[in-house]
Parts: sequence; C-alpha cells; structure tokens
Amino acid sequence: MSDLVVRDLCTRYDTVDVLHDVSIDVVQGRITCILGANGAGKTTLIRSIFGLTPPRAGSLLWGGRELSGMKTHDIVAQGIACIPEGRKVFPRMTVAENLALGGFLEKDEHILRERLGKVYEIFPRLAERATQLAGTMSGGEQAMVSIGRGLMAEPKLLIIDEPSLGLSPLFVKENFNVIKHINQLGITVLLVEQNARQTLAISHYGYVLTQGRVVAHGTAQTLAENDEVRSAYFG
Ligand SMILES: Nc1ncnc2c1ncn2[C@@H]1O[C@H](COP(=O)(O)OP(=O)(O)O)[C@@H](O)[C@H]1O
Ligand SMILES: [Mg+2]
Repeated sequence: MSDLVVRDLCTRYDTVDVLHDVSIDVVQGRITCILGANGAGKTTLIRSIFGLTPPRAGSLLWGGRELSGMKTHDIVAQGIACIPEGRKVFPRMTVAENLALGGFLEKDEHILRERLGKVYEIFPRLAERATQLAGTMSGGEQAMVSIGRGLMAEPKLLIIDEPSLGLSPLFVKENFNVIKHINQLGITVLLVEQNARQTLAISHYGYVLTQGRVVAHGTAQTLAENDEVRSAYFG
C-alpha cells in the first residue's frame, strides 16, 4: 500500500519548535486534508516530508519505507510530487516548458508525450495556450499550469499547498473540482488549506493543525459538523 504514515513528527527552525508530535495518515486513493490558519505549520509539514526542513524526531513512512534522512530528489523519485504555495510557475517560460519541467525524472519521450496528452485532456485551456509565456496568464490559468506540472511527474501522491490562496472564488471552485477529478483518476492527495468549507467538501478525511499540533481529526463530514472547527474556520 502506498500510504504516507507520519508519526510523532517534530520540526524546528533553528531553536524554535514549529511541529509538535504530528501524526497523520494519508491513505492511498483518498483526499486527506490538513486545515490550519496562517502560521500553523502546514508548509513546514510539507517541507519536512520532502526533507527540505528535516524533522528532528518522528518518522515518515511511505509504503512502509522511511523517508526521513533521504535526499529530496530521492523522495520525489518515490512518486511524491508537490504543488507549492503560490504556484511558482516560471513566468518567462512557456506553458509547455513549465509542464515539461514536471517530468524531468522521466527520460522516455513517448511516455512524456502521453503524460502531456493527459494533462491537456484535464486542462484543454493549457493545450490552447501551450506556447504562451506562463507569466502572462491569469492566476487561475497559472494554477492549472502548476497542477499540470505536478501531474507530469505521474505521482502516486500529490501534495498541494494552499491551492485556493489568492484565487477568485470562481477559480477556487474550478481548482477544487480539478483536484477531486485528479483523485478520481487514482492519485492520492494531501491537501493543505485554510479554506475549510470547500476543502472538506472534496476530502475524505482531515486533520486540524493549530500552532503545530493536531488538535482534531476525523472524516470530512465529522469535521464539518465540529463546532470548534466551524467557529474557527467557517467564520
Ligand atoms: N524558514 C523559516 N525560518 C524560521 N521560521 C519559519 C520559517 N518558515 C516558517 N517559519 C515559522 O514557522 C511557523 C509555521 O510556518 P508555516 O509552516 O509556513 O505555516 P503555514 O504554512 O501553516 O502558514 C510560523 O511561525 C513561521 O513564522
Ligand atoms: Mg504555508
């Protein structure tokens, strides 16, 4: 099974502890979400999974294999991809060039063309705009580029850091529909968000992170009905 099992993870920057004994299960085939306010430690958790800010304690098991201590590119090669906060497209490269970067580990041109075809099926708009510079596209279109780039790695697990940040409500909705669709194609998703309502609407299971600790977890429906979650995240 390609589950990601995080146990008692502790991470610090210099001498400041940011994650405290974080334990989460990202179950294969599902959308698992982590809800947390600004500064809760969501991005730090992602950085820890990829070894960018190595945890100082705890374990990260991927399909039974320990990830902590591995180099970032070896972790990526295990089939884990990330769509970073703020999307981070390369503005002076074309859409097609941005997408190609996501497939850098695969050398077989035929396989890459196939993957590109699948991305263009999900995002016909990117096919129309293949030669346009990514920096000249709208925020919503850049979001498509960043998701498409993640898919070019054909990951087993896709980790998405705050996809709704800075997008208009229409694009947020579209983006979440795409994430749901990607999951239905068989890709496991770990979705990190502040937007509780729409995140819980597409997730199977969720965790609430407050100041670096998991303070609640449950099925998406249970969390949506949880009074504390409602008052903290539904406004
Ligand atoms: N590179 C860093 N160096 C020191 N502290 C950091 C760094 N990045 C984040 N932090 C701190 O860690 C905490 C968690 O940040 P972060 O993981 O980015 O939260 P979130 O993604 O949930 O908004 C915050 O208090 C933040 O100020
Ligand atoms: Mg963040």
